[in-house]
Amino acid sequence: MFKFTLWMRLTIGYIAILVLVIALGVFVAFNLNQINILIRDTANDGATIAHMEQLLNTIFSQVSFERKYLISQDPDFRQKFREIQDIVANDLKTGEHRMNTDRKKKLFSETSNLYQDYISLFREETALMAKGQKIPSKKFIQQKDEIIDSINQKINGIMGIVSSDRENKILLSSQISIQVLNMTVFTAVLTVLLGILISFLNTRSINRSIVLLQKKTKEITEGVYGKIPDIKAPPEIKALANDFNTMSEKLRRLDEMKIDFINHVSHELRTPLTAMKEASSMLMEGTYIDDAEKQHQLLAITYEECERLINSVNRILDHSRMEAKMMGYRFIKCSLIPVIQHVVLKLTPIAQSKKIHLELKPSPELPAVRIDEERIGQVLENLIGNALKFTPEKGQVTIQTVQINRNKNLVCVAVRDSGMGINEEDLQTIFDKYSRVRAAENKARGSGLGLSIAKYIIADHGGQIWATSEPGKGSTFFFALPVA
Ligand SMILES: Nc1ncnc2c1ncn2[C@@H]1O[C@H](COP(=O)(O)OP(=O)(O)OP(=O)(O)O)[C@@H](O)[C@H]1O
Ligand SMILES: [Mg+2]
Repeated sequence: MFKFTLWMRLTIGYIAILVLVIALGVFVAFNLNQINILIRDTANDGATIAHMEQLLNTIFSQVSFERKYLISQDPDFRQKFREIQDIVANDLKTGEHRMNTDRKKKLFSETSNLYQDYISLFREETALMAKGQKIPSKKFIQQKDEIIDSINQKINGIMGIVSSDRENKILLSSQISIQVLNMTVFTAVLTVLLGILISFLNTRSINRSIVLLQKKTKEITEGVYGKIPDIKAPPEIKALANDFNTMSEKLRRLDEMKIDFINHVSHELRTPLTAMKEASSMLMEGTYIDDAEKQHQLLAITYEECERLINSVNRILDHSRMEAKMMGYRFIKCSLIPVIQHVVLKLTPIAQSKKIHLELKPSPELPAVRIDEERIGQVLENLIGNALKFTPEKGQVTIQTVQINRNKNLVCVAVRDSGMGINEEDLQTIFDKYSRVRAAENKARGSGLGLSIAKYIIADHGGQIWATSEPGKGSTFFFALPVA
């Protein structure tokens, strides 16, 4: 099933917030542009109103010069009238561009036409005046008044439309501003809430597991090797929990083995010491004072136990030295066969005492290896010793040597026994320190360090050690070393 990693959760969360902010930005930019257009239009409307006012005032002043001329017939007034006519004509021309709706255009063209009518009437009147008729006549005055009134109404009408347009635009821009403000506040709140939600969900998903991890870690420091149950968390945390469980299990096993080791080693050390104490006290008390043979037996026991004690202590020291990587080696190029033969010879009495058939089957022409003879001897002694220790009487222990690998660049030694065997689970741990198979624990003496030491030694030789086994039928221990 597809799993959302912590990284993906955070990224998706932040992208969502980013998209929101960008959308708000676009919205605000669009509306600000809209407001900008409205403000420009409003300014234009103001200019149109001013233009119309000026046009109207100019026409009014023209009318006043017309009246003065008709009464006084002073050519100066006529001249003024003409000048203003040009100004009005120009204003009418420029004003036309400002009419941006059909209604305004219609009113403005009507105004223009009315103005032309007014000029025509004036011309008619002055023509009559030139013919000597009495001016002003009532008929003309009435007609002109009506036209000027109409012009006044039309221009005021245009100004009314423009100013109501302007008000609408101001209203609209204020509405847009409010909308932008609302949207900004809304998005800000939404972003904050989304941020909080994302953090909350992410934090919650990891927090519970972290707290659990913390608790379990603390428990481990107190010696309780618990496990983290299957938790609902992002894959990274799950992986961490799995690793934690593996670590906890390893620590638990190590702890168990250590306790086991201390119990066992104290037993290992105490047994020979007790035996030695008993034997020497019997000698001191003069027991068997007349029996030289019995006395010799007591001394032999003391000697054997002394040797066992020294062996145990040496093994513990060796192991510590290897763990601290302080083991010194004296490598020489030699054949493995004499080393094996020497160990076999040394262990033959034990094999004989258990009536075990101990046999070495060396392969001919085995190439030389570069080894520390004493240390490899120690490995062999432990492997063959184990085979003899864990094989019942009248069993069989065979040592074989072969060359393996594609280029035949490894020399392999196999120690096979017909003993009790080792089950699959224990095979995984026997090379760990202090590891002793529980079923075998009570029957045979040993510190559980032999195989761990062997593993260190073989690794330091650039080789490998492993084992296979069929429980009930026997085990085979192998180690392989590179050809020199
Ligand atoms: N050939 C074997 N057959 C069955 N079990 C074995 C054999 N070799 C090793 N084991 C198991 O592996 C354990 C570890 O062996 P290892 O040699 O490390 O320790 P040991 O023999 O018990 O003690 P030590 O070698 O330190 O005296 C043994 O205690 C035994 O349970
Ligand atoms: Mg051993």
